[in-house]
Amino acid sequence: MPAVVVVGSQWGDEGKGKATDQLGSQVDYVVKFNGGNNAGHTVVIDGEKYALHLLPSGILSPGVTPVIGNGVVIDIEVLYQELDALESRGVDTSKLLISGSAHVIPSYNRTMDKVTERFLGKRRIGTTGRGIGPTYSDKINRVGIRVWDLFDEKILRAKVEGALDQKNQLLVKVFNRREVLVEEIVEELLGLAERLRPMVTDTALVLNKALDEGKTVLFEGGQATMLDIDHGTYPFVTSSNATAGGVCTGSGVGPTRIDRVIGVIKAYTTRVGEGPFPTELFDEMGIYLQTTGGEYGVTTGRARRCGWYDAVVARYSSRVNGLTDIVLTKLDVLTGIEEIPVCVAYDVDGVRYDEMPTDQSAYHHAKPIFEYFPGWTEDIFGIKTFEELPKNAQDYVLALEKMSGARISSIGTGPARDHTIIRHALVD
Ligand code: GDP
Ligand code: IMO
Ligand code: MG
Repeated sequence: MPAVVVVGSQWGDEGKGKATDQLGSQVDYVVKFNGGNNAGHTVVIDGEKYALHLLPSGILSPGVTPVIGNGVVIDIEVLYQELDALESRGVDTSKLLISGSAHVIPSYNRTMDKVTERFLGKRRIGTTGRGIGPTYSDKINRVGIRVWDLFDEKILRAKVEGALDQKNQLLVKVFNRREVLVEEIVEELLGLAERLRPMVTDTALVLNKALDEGKTVLFEGGQATMLDIDHGTYPFVTSSNATAGGVCTGSGVGPTRIDRVIGVIKAYTTRVGEGPFPTELFDEMGIYLQTTGGEYGVTTGRARRCGWYDAVVARYSSRVNGLTDIVLTKLDVLTGIEEIPVCVAYDVDGVRYDEMPTDQSAYHHAKPIFEYFPGWTEDIFGIKTFEELPKNAQDYVLALEKMSGARISSIGTGPARDHTIIRHALVD
């Protein structure tokens, strides 16, 4: 089983970090293929909590080679901070490989992110402010700075000039900010280059060779299906392909090599930032899920919006990712809820939708149609076998499996590595 993909199936923070970490001992490479330090993955090992942003969660597993693929956008200062923080806690980070074709987030794009959001006012996206959108825009506009460029001063200067040409017009004339000086940026980036050099390589070549040798490669998605630039709730999305398709473009590994696609889904739903969220709760139940589930962002500390499980989203995600397996997380958080609503379809202005309306206007009007499942009061925290779950919890999982488009292979009953029920092996 050489190439396995892990993607988020809702609006992020489903527990991808834990899922990746759980597979760490069975894989040789863990590859990040999209996004940047907008991601925040919490991994708990032996009671120790690690928060990862730019680095693949596999960096915590000894023996794994962590890889940052070409589809990622890199804030180099953040990268060094994260590496230093892990090293100071005794984690070996020396195997990290970085694609030279990955794009760099220059400081002016963090500025652009923030001023653009302010300018959008009530139409803002609620971004993480990390410069993700502007850096992907530069990539598509062909004025981006790639890691390779840092090692050729002449090229770097020309590229920074090209990028700032229009951006300074915008910054000064539209956003009323000061002009960014080319030399300042060139110096900043050159100053960061040397430490990076030994990590930089043609990661697509490395990964394809590894697959040829029968090694196991795990691709760890940042963000999630509903935040995907193409398949998510556009424009309230991130700027990369967080779905399984992004693996190929974001790593240089072809689709024929991918065997398993694992979708991570919470037993309820959360969302950070703006945008439609049909099952969102605005009452004390929402606060209950937020508090019990510890739903506060790892990256920005923002409280996550909470709502019930949405099977329409799950089915959609299974479809656009081609999911083979689902990792259901945070089942323990639902303990004690008398009756658990699950959204099975939407009502859009009086019309029933069994599948996701891909038209934005319709989705903004979507009201959940719920089915209700009896809850359980028994403590299930840390349970490791399906049989030990109370009957109602088992039935809830089986009902979700029936509605969600793929088999539920693993169930989370707590944040730690071993707070997990395995029904089907995810890597074999
Ligand atoms: P990611 O961005 O998808 O990696 O997810 P985050 O790390 O942002 O958010 C998931 C949170 O849920 C983290 O705090 C995890 O430690 C925690 N978590 C993951 N799985 C479970 C689970 O099954 N039960 C509980 N109670 N917490 C979990
Ligand atoms: P992980 O990997 C949850 C959201 C932001 C905002 C939108 C765009 O931890 O699941 P961006 O800064 O990417 O331009 O913001 O996307 N967002 C996330 N929400 N989890 C994430 O990552 C997210 N990464 C971005 O809140 O609504
Ligand atoms: Mg997260």
